[in-house]
Amino acid sequence: MTRWGIAATGGMAAAFATDLQLVPDAEIAFVGSRSPDSAADFAARFGAPGSGTYRDLLDAARAGEVDVVYVATPHPQHRDLALAAIEGGTALLVEKAFTATLAGAEEVVAAARRAQVFCMEAMWTRFQPALVHARELVAGGGIGDLLLVQADFGAHRDYDPDSRLFDLALGGGALLDLGVYPVSLAQHFLGRPDGVTATGTTYPSGADRSAAIQLSYADGRAASLTCSLASQTPGRALLVGTEGSLELVPPFYHPTEVVVRRNGQEPVTVEALPTGRGYVHQAEEVQRCLAAGLTESPVMPLADTLDVQWVLEEALGQLGVEMAEATVAL
Ligand SMILES: NC(=O)c1ccc[n+]([C@@H]2O[C@H](COP(=O)([O-])OP(=O)(O)OC[C@H]3O[C@@H](n4cnc5c(N)ncnc54)[C@H](OP(=O)(O)O)[C@@H]3O)[C@@H](O)[C@H]2O)c1
Repeated sequence: MTRWGIAATGGMAAAFATDLQLVPDAEIAFVGSRSPDSAADFAARFGAPGSGTYRDLLDAARAGEVDVVYVATPHPQHRDLALAAIEGGTALLVEKAFTATLAGAEEVVAAARRAQVFCMEAMWTRFQPALVHARELVAGGGIGDLLLVQADFGAHRDYDPDSRLFDLALGGGALLDLGVYPVSLAQHFLGRPDGVTATGTTYPSGADRSAAIQLSYADGRAASLTCSLASQTPGRALLVGTEGSLELVPPFYHPTEVVVRRNGQEPVTVEALPTGRGYVHQAEEVQRCLAAGLTESPVMPLADTLDVQWVLEEALGQLGVEMAEATVAL
């Protein structure tokens, strides 16, 4: 049995906890929150025996009552919680964006590697069955050599400076919340780019509203990516190779269908459904890695997280947006 600790009681924490109930050999052992009352409510809802503050959660983990902590606070709070868990020798699954800044990500990665503690970014897209199929098909040469990646992620949210989505102090903006998906997809299939070019727009709060990112590779490969909080977009991703293309049918960040268009042939559609809302698969990966004694996931290794954070920070910088990590009182 893997005993999970949940850090935060917001929307994503609840979505993950719901899916965790579908994961074999998983239980929620402890819930941590800024508010012990909120933690107690959340724990009661999901049948967790323990609840308290974030400090209480970390102490329970240090005492061996929790095997892995899932961090689902806003991005700038990820770093301090992750560092404290690592210091206590506790394994981690950290929501995307992994941190608010590249320096924050580097700190967490260095600490995890030094302590030999398992740590993974919760980039659930990489574990969706349809994405796994796409990865295997591309690796097997199904569309030839990969040349281009194209992806968009736009979601309409009314501008509200008090919401974490638009508040710079809470890591607000399209790039860290949505852009991380197309960037991670491109990084997954093409690797770390040699160049990043970004243009975009911002809200009065200073958070980014929309961005177009071009990733360039010295050998001519490229990725063309967009994200926005202004309007809904299809959420389609295309991988273009020398012998055909592969479409991750929207929404590409948790796809259920892949369409392969081999040159000169009729398109072939393959369906591969996730379990639950799709968060099950990353939890299973964490449990598989812990059981195998791994400190990183081979599918979502920390080097990939650092590459993604580097691209995001380059893009934010070109838009004139500066992010900062928060200090969490623990
Ligand atoms: N994978 C996905 O599909 C997905 C979807 C949505 C969001 N996310 C990620 O999950 C994380 C949380 O997003 P969310 O949508 O769940 O946000 P949310 O609903 O606003 O919840 C965030 C929670 O973080 C905790 N928190 C700790 N410090 C905070 C602070 N200073 N200000 C506000 N909240 C604070 C709060 O819980 P307590 O009151 O209990 O401390 C709060 O409920 C983000 O990193 C986001 O990118 C992932």
